[in-house]
Amino acid sequence: MNKTYLIFLLFFAASYSSPGAAADPANVYEDFVRCFKNKTNISDEDLTDVVLPRTSVFFTPVLRAYIRNARFNTSSTPKPSVIVLPRVDSHVQAAVICTKTLNLQLKIRSGGHDYDGLSYVSAVTFIVLDLSNFRNITVDMKDDGGSAWVQTGATLGELFYRIWEKSEVHAFPAGICPTVGVGGHVSGGGYGHMIRKFGLTIDYVVDATIVDVSGRVLDRKSMGEDLFWAIRGGGAGSFGVVLAFKVKLVEVPKTVTVFRIDKTTDQNALDMVYKWQFVAPRTDPGLFIRVLLASPTKNKTQTVNAKVRALYLGNASDVVSMMAKEFPELGLKIDDCKEMTWIQSLLWWMNYKDVEKVKPGVLLERDPGSAKFVKRKSDYVEKEITKPELNRLIQQLETLDRTGLVLNPYGGNLNATATNETAFPHRHKLYKIQHSSTWSDPRPEADRLYVGSLRTTYRIMTPFVSKNPRSSYLNYRDVDIGVNDHGKDSYRKGEIYGRKYFGENFDRLVRVKTAVDPENFFRNEQSIPTLPHKRR
Ligand SMILES: Cc1cc2nc3c(=O)[nH]c(=O)nc-3n(C[C@H](O)[C@H](O)[C@H](O)COP(=O)(O)OP(=O)(O)OC[C@H]3O[C@@H](n4cnc5c(N)ncnc54)[C@H](O)[C@@H]3O)c2cc1C
Ligand SMILES: *[C@@H]1O[C@H](CO)[C@@H](O)[C@H](O)[C@H]1NC(C)=O
Ligand SMILES: *[C@@H]1O[C@H](CO)[C@@H](O)[C@H](O)[C@H]1NC(C)=O
Ligand SMILES: *[C@@H]1O[C@H](CO)[C@@H](O)[C@H](O)[C@H]1NC(C)=O
Ligand SMILES: *[C@@H]1O[C@H](CO)[C@@H](O)[C@H](O)[C@H]1NC(C)=O
Ligand SMILES: *[C@@H]1O[C@H](CO)[C@@H](O)[C@H](O)[C@H]1NC(C)=O
Ligand SMILES: *[C@@H]1O[C@H](CO)[C@@H](O)[C@H](O)[C@H]1NC(C)=O
Ligand SMILES: *[C@@H]1O[C@H](CO)[C@@H](O)[C@H](O)[C@H]1NC(C)=O
Ligand SMILES: *[C@@H]1O[C@H](CO)[C@@H](O)[C@H](O)[C@H]1NC(C)=O
Repeated sequence: MNKTYLIFLLFFAASYSSPGAAADPANVYEDFVRCFKNKTNISDEDLTDVVLPRTSVFFTPVLRAYIRNARFNTSSTPKPSVIVLPRVDSHVQAAVICTKTLNLQLKIRSGGHDYDGLSYVSAVTFIVLDLSNFRNITVDMKDDGGSAWVQTGATLGELFYRIWEKSEVHAFPAGICPTVGVGGHVSGGGYGHMIRKFGLTIDYVVDATIVDVSGRVLDRKSMGEDLFWAIRGGGAGSFGVVLAFKVKLVEVPKTVTVFRIDKTTDQNALDMVYKWQFVAPRTDPGLFIRVLLASPTKNKTQTVNAKVRALYLGNASDVVSMMAKEFPELGLKIDDCKEMTWIQSLLWWMNYKDVEKVKPGVLLERDPGSAKFVKRKSDYVEKEITKPELNRLIQQLETLDRTGLVLNPYGGNLNATATNETAFPHRHKLYKIQHSSTWSDPRPEADRLYVGSLRTTYRIMTPFVSKNPRSSYLNYRDVDIGVNDHGKDSYRKGEIYGRKYFGENFDRLVRVKTAVDPENFFRNEQSIPTLPHKRR
């Protein structure tokens, strides 16, 4: 037997003996298309736009269009065998059925902002279902004080814009980065700068449509309250493909106030951050004060910066007198404040300086140009860190490069909803930390350095954050806290990251998962596992 033939045989065996391991993408495409055409009756002309093989000229641009982390935009990043770009519900239904028939993995992508790329990368043969054409939004101001049906491939910016078109005093409590996709954001919990006033994004979801593992389209009534509970905070990707959410809008004042204050460690940053822990989670729910602690970037001569960014749902004079009383260490002056409309405040958080001159239409822009390299992790603080400890922490941060901690206050009305009313469990924490590193050097050494720095901040924070389990926020995806290959230990592995993301709610999520998808078709590196057979 000659060597080439042996290699061929080995390759052949690898491709065909274990589905999901390393199937030939061309064969996957052919098999998939045969099934897809049978289920949808799509014309050959439409097919070229809807089901893309690797050889399609659209394949790479479509794949790249929603890659938001340059770490997963390299030539060695595993690519899907096929991308499906559905235009109608029946395309989604067929994509589910045909991927299941071929025994492959389906990765569902809405806005592609998953920090660890789980919506478009996999270690096994996979198909990407890209929902970017599912972006319809229907706002109805007459329904129950304002509501909207929003398809999951829409962006938050599009939702904000469509609401603003109808009313300047209505809004939606969600993340403030306009390119984030509705699908991942909403099903993972979702929060923004009104979290203390209104709670989480999922607290405003009143209905949804989902394609289940059998390819049926279900709404809240037909899916039942268990599944509807799970997709609010549990991450929808473990349960089905959400096509759209119905959400309730909220009312905001005509004038809101924003302010920013930057302090270095030489300018009493320590006192300010220490006091922030007591004030920010307890003050008026209309006030959201975020603090960013950034290590020095370009060189080590700088000290750590504490940057304050805040939104107040009211006027400047009110917030200034409130802060003078509660938080003198902040030193807020009327000149630090800017009054504006709510929609303008979004532009301000996007770092536009002169918001009066910017048209809200920028919220509709989907293409941020190129993406940086990013790694994120999350933590929850339950008790204020003491001043000496905080001081030591800031000194340790100074030794690191390009890492930061973003402190997001909780409190206010976040706990008005019970911790078991949605799958999101962390409603009684004091504040959340996002560990953050962002860089543009493409070399693998840089990746090791910056990801390593972030793991260092995570280690340093251990004594100060939640324990047993150490909690994490699902939407700040972090594969470091555990991954699952869904082999024989799937439940045990799933419980490791599952308890961190969902606490006590993990058990109900597992029960729902086992009931709606017992064969675990909807799986990814951090999906909800099914109960082991012996425990069903
Ligand atoms: C720049 C930036 C800013 C951010 N700001 C905030 C913020 O202010 N607040 C906040 O809470 N979070 C924030 N996040 C995190 C963000 O909420 C999550 O990354 C969210 O999951 C992204 O949703 P997506 O649809 O864009 O992502 P995707 O990568 O498309 O999806 C994320 C996950 O959800 C699954 N999924 C997506 N769509 C569906 C669907 N229709 N049905 C079933 N499963 C689906 C995917 O398979 C994947 O597992 C931010 C992220 C980035 C990159
Ligand atoms: C799909 O396949 C089934 C079984 O082979 C066949 O009966 C049916 O006619 C096919 N439908 C279409 C639309 O091709
Ligand atoms: C597919 O199209 C053919 C011809 O237009 C039609 O007879 C058949 O019912 C269609 N099948 C499905 C599944 O839509
Ligand atoms: C979006 O709405 C338009 C107009 O009603 C409709 O033609 C289209 O099919 C819808 N798109 C999806 C993906 O539902
Ligand atoms: C260090 O960074 C600061 C702020 O970016 C800059 O002003 C200073 O010149 C830099 N020093 C050196 C030695 O590069
Ligand atoms: C600020 O708002 C309060 C109501 O909260 C109002 O009484 C006050 O007059 C307002 N001040 C200014 C300067 O607009
Ligand atoms: C991905 O890489 C390609 C090729 O290097 C580049 O053109 C593109 O801008 C990158 N995409 C992102 C989102 O950075
Ligand atoms: C909810 O949070 C507020 C503000 O932090 C606190 O005063 C209140 O006691 C909390 N309520 C419950 C039920 O935990
Ligand atoms: C949620 O918790 C409350 C109080 O602990 C309990 O009474 C209720 O039954 C729980 N609800 C669900 C759906 O588990």
